[in-house]
Amino acid sequence: MTEMVTEVQFRQGMSQLAGGVTVVTCTDYDGAWRGFTASDVCSLSLKPPMVLVCLDRAAECHPTFQVASSFAVNILASEDRQLAKRFATKGEEKFAGTSFHEGPLGAPVLPEALATIECHARERIDLGDHTILTGAVERVVTNDGQPLVYYDRDFWRLMNAQREECAS
Ligand SMILES: Cc1cc2nc3c(=O)[nH]c(=O)nc-3n(C[C@H](O)[C@H](O)[C@H](O)COP(=O)(O)O)c2cc1C
Repeated sequence: MTEMVTEVQFRQGMSQLAGGVTVVTCTDYDGAWRGFTASDVCSLSLKPPMVLVCLDRAAECHPTFQVASSFAVNILASEDRQLAKRFATKGEEKFAGTSFHEGPLGAPVLPEALATIECHARERIDLGDHTILTGAVERVVTNDGQPLVYYDRDFWRLMNAQREECAS
């Protein structure tokens, strides 16, 4: 018989998975922008290109993402740590004073993002306390820069990081 894993143990384990940081955005029916900081983002399919994003059902922006016809995944550069914090804080005026502008699909895009991946919303799947948002990728814009990394419950930048070859 397996022992129950506590939330603390689960969080501790997952905190050891280093990952990129994104701000995922969409537009409400009344034109208001919504967005949240997300690291639970990954590619889902190559042909056709699709992505998935896991969104907490308790998030204030959840109802909007439930119905939005498009969303954008903005992959943050190391300079955008404050933006990541702001978009992870409930009740913040998240877009005030930022350079977000409306992308061709209607979702806000960040011009200085390392990459912006704009999607038409597809299936939404409720599992546990999150909803998996899936999107068909329609447009990708990339910029040079260094990524913002989230690891061990903190933000990191890849200073002096050494590239290790992937192929054996
Ligand atoms: C680095 C980082 C990554 C996060 N990743 C996710 C994520 O993938 N999914 C999620 O639902 N919340 C994630 N969060 C938490 C949300 O950004 C935060 O709860 C946000 O305020 C939710 O949006 P709301 O203000 O509309 O409620 C993350 C927070 C941080 C700091």
